[in-house]
Amino acid sequence: MNVARSIEEARRLRRTMPESVGLVPTMGFLHEGHLALVRRAAAENRSTVVSLFVNPTQFGPAEDYTTYPRDLERDLSLLDAEGVDLVFAPTAEGLYPPGYDSWIDVGELGTRLEGAARPGHFRGVATVVTKLFHIVRPHRAYFGEKDAQQLAVIRKLTDDLDFDIEIVGCPIVRDPDGVAMSSRNTYLSARQRDSATALSRSLTLASDMWRGGERNAAVIRHAMESLLLAEPDTAIDYISIANPDTLLEIPWLDGPALISLAVRVGKTRLIDNTRIPPGFPK
Ligand code: PAF
Repeated sequence: MNVARSIEEARRLRRTMPESVGLVPTMGFLHEGHLALVRRAAAENRSTVVSLFVNPTQFGPAEDYTTYPRDLERDLSLLDAEGVDLVFAPTAEGLYPPGYDSWIDVGELGTRLEGAARPGHFRGVATVVTKLFHIVRPHRAYFGEKDAQQLAVIRKLTDDLDFDIEIVGCPIVRDPDGVAMSSRNTYLSARQRDSATALSRSLTLASDMWRGGERNAAVIRHAMESLLLAEPDTAIDYISIANPDTLLEIPWLDGPALISLAVRVGKTRLIDNTRIPPGFPK
């Protein structure tokens, strides 16, 4: 496995790779969710590239950029075991040298939900993903559906800016207790971990209500709220029941919907989501 620490090295190694090339962009501290993306990329391409980069420009000033978990050695050995061809692990100064000042403005889709709670977040995501696309020149790029809005923003960016790259969304990977895998789960105490199971339980409740015939978004949201707030140490940032393409809130679930939520458990902010398919449940 090759490891490139600079853009020049990544470009040089990329030129030698058999095509097609699959890229898995990550911020490292890998878990099974990331490895599922890596396995999918390896299955669908001749060469696999993984980027490991905690991107400073997608964190707000009061967010956890400096404390975000990092373990490069462990990540490299996990990726080596998966047969990854190239790891691109640049430095912050490498991607954003002094004087760097060009940005991808993602527009309306990036202003809702996560974008409203984390101003500038999607500008940072879109900028770094665009840079990675230019450096690695992948044929396909793999992203988790846990970050549903990020996936929607990247699909739109790819479309709007005419990148000739297939964006592949991969299903959420959960621990046995239902908690969606996330590098930030390491912040949770044992008690908070119990509370964190309320996110997936509230989504299951919402799907069950829909299957049982409930279509009123306010009724479903209220039931989710009650379940979440019954747990100690939880505070709801938002519960959204929205059109999956526009992310605009919908009052009735009479078509496909994305139910997503952001909840603080103690100081840790967690997100999760589920999709309601079009049409009636079987
Ligand atoms: O999902 C992530 O880990 C990050 O937002 C990404 C896509 C790697 C960009 O930094």
